[in-house]
Amino acid sequence: MMLSVQDLRVSFARAHGPAVEVVHGISFDLEKGETLGIVGESGSGKSVLSLATMGLLPRTAKVSGKILLDGQDILPLPERDMCALRGRKIGMIFQEPMTALNPAMRVGAQIAEGLILNKGLSKSAARAESLRLLEMVKIPRAPERIDSFPHEMSGGQRQRVGIAIALALQPELLIADEPTTALDVTVQAEILDILDDLVTDLGISLILISHDLGVIGRIADRTLVMYRGDPVEQGETEQILRRPTQDYTRKLISAMPRRVRNSLGVQHA
Ligand SMILES: Nc1ncnc2c1ncn2[C@@H]1O[C@H](COP(=O)(O)OP(=O)(O)OP(=O)(O)O)[C@@H](O)[C@H]1O
Ligand SMILES: [Mg+2]
Repeated sequence: MMLSVQDLRVSFARAHGPAVEVVHGISFDLEKGETLGIVGESGSGKSVLSLATMGLLPRTAKVSGKILLDGQDILPLPERDMCALRGRKIGMIFQEPMTALNPAMRVGAQIAEGLILNKGLSKSAARAESLRLLEMVKIPRAPERIDSFPHEMSGGQRQRVGIAIALALQPELLIADEPTTALDVTVQAEILDILDDLVTDLGISLILISHDLGVIGRIADRTLVMYRGDPVEQGETEQILRRPTQDYTRKLISAMPRRVRNSLGVQHA
């Protein structure tokens, strides 16, 4: 088992008044090579859940439960140990690639930086590896693009660079929080297909977070539906799409455009 989250609860301390709990006991398992989709409307706790897994919540957050990564509970680990896990064992892809990239640095150098710092690669070996990664995420004309600045690239290309950076240290678990929300529909489909291929080719595990069941339905093996910090239902994605048991899931399905429902072979709930 790659990741096993057990009864995870997150609350935030407030300056005045009692702490507020925003994630109320979420549990899920993720096998190696599997994609788990987490879906729910804005504010349902998807990002808090993924930040908790990365150990990136602010100090005001109190987290309880278990987060077993390869069998080891990483929740009690000090920041120094979590820091070593991030990038190496767990990679993260963010919603807006521009915020994750350094605007003043060529993209190839940004990918190479982590390789030099963490893997001790020489400058030229790191550049060669950066090129390989850019080709893996299907950046067109990668040998030229490697020296581009982020602002010279399209949104979809920037997100591919974000994926290349997340993959650079060969993590076993990838967490993608709304990786395609800022992109138009065709580019969105391309990025999802790249992620899907990577999971298959590299045998890594993926957590794909989205408010859009159409995005999740495209590549997730299993799906967890969340509502206001609660688990609503979880299971095989096909099962969730074709035979939802909860009204909230049915609502998410009816919110999908008909074209998307048809392409996933889903009847109106
Ligand atoms: N640092 C924080 N301090 C206090 N409350 C927070 C903090 N971060 C998130 N919250 C609260 O936790 C709840 C869940 O937020 P979260 O960002 O996880 O939602 P989400 O499902 O990712 O939504 P979206 O789809 O908009 O990204 C919200 O009510 C939010 O206000
Ligand atoms: Mg979020």
